[in-house]
Amino acid sequence: MTDIPAKPVLLTGASGALGRQLTRYLSGLGWTLKLTDIAPFPDAVPPGCTFTKADLNDGVAILRLAEGCGMILHFGGVSVERPFEEVLGPNIRGLYHIYEAARREGARVLMASSNHAIGFHERSEKIDADCAQLPDGYYGLTKAYAELMGRMYWFKHGVESVSVRIGSCFPEPTEQRMLSTWLSYGDLCRLCERATLAAATECAIIWGCSNNSRTFWGKDDRDRLGWQPQDSADAYANQVMGKVSGDDVIEAYQGGGYTRIDYTRAGGMPGKLFGD
Ligand SMILES: NC(=O)c1ccc[n+]([C@@H]2O[C@H](COP(=O)([O-])OP(=O)(O)OC[C@H]3O[C@@H](n4cnc5c(N)ncnc54)[C@H](O)[C@@H]3O)[C@@H](O)[C@H]2O)c1
Repeated sequence: MTDIPAKPVLLTGASGALGRQLTRYLSGLGWTLKLTDIAPFPDAVPPGCTFTKADLNDGVAILRLAEGCGMILHFGGVSVERPFEEVLGPNIRGLYHIYEAARREGARVLMASSNHAIGFHERSEKIDADCAQLPDGYYGLTKAYAELMGRMYWFKHGVESVSVRIGSCFPEPTEQRMLSTWLSYGDLCRLCERATLAAATECAIIWGCSNNSRTFWGKDDRDRLGWQPQDSADAYANQVMGKVSGDDVIEAYQGGGYTRIDYTRAGGMPGKLFGD
């Protein structure tokens, strides 16, 4: 039997790759979704759902959209590495609008964070969710800030949040690194379902990857959600093993190719920031 949330769920970034998957899955469960994005919704809006075009920079529009919602699944914003000025509005100001709306409505937030919030951890490390944030670019920096914003709103206002450090959420792994970082669409959808239905999440951080034996990541707060991934990248090992970049920096770090973008450091890689 499936549970239906008592209040509607607001989904930002609904027109994006992950938003469309979530729309299909959650509407299929019979949930009432308020979909929003700055881009038109490319599919038919499912029964029981509405779509409203809005810019995350528009705080009044976001407050209106969140009215009556008990959960905000926040997938909107710049989703790749871009210059500082481009990420600032959607990912920082927009995020502030999301948390203010959640505070006003007493809603919970699931925030689509990223492995790029911790991308400069080396691949040889196995890290837990309470590891140091080590963003690998301006995009990752916005996700690190977003996790901190969740923490501040929990301590100061009691707003619950789930920050999901998504690894690589695509139909299937396409390179060797994804044997560690891949998150299946199914596992993402079930994670959002559990994060919405859980009795209490407090301020949680979750590693967004499937049950991959080559994972870089260890402990997190998933027990509060009752979520366990069911899929695994292991099944694709034969397909992608050996698909590597050949670049020392990219292969050293968990963030992969993003660590290399605009990389100007001379004199080799630094030592670990916080010891072993
Ligand atoms: N796909 C992955 O592997 C992955 C990995 C890590 C994190 N994430 C995060 O998950 C979320 C969704 O990722 P995705 O792959 O679906 O990306 P996507 O780019 O397909 O979707 C993002 C959506 O946000 C919308 N958007 C951008 N600026 C906006 C604005 N100013 N106002 C309103 N909407 C705006 C875009 O129109 C787009 O539809 C993003 O926050 C991304 O950072 C994804």
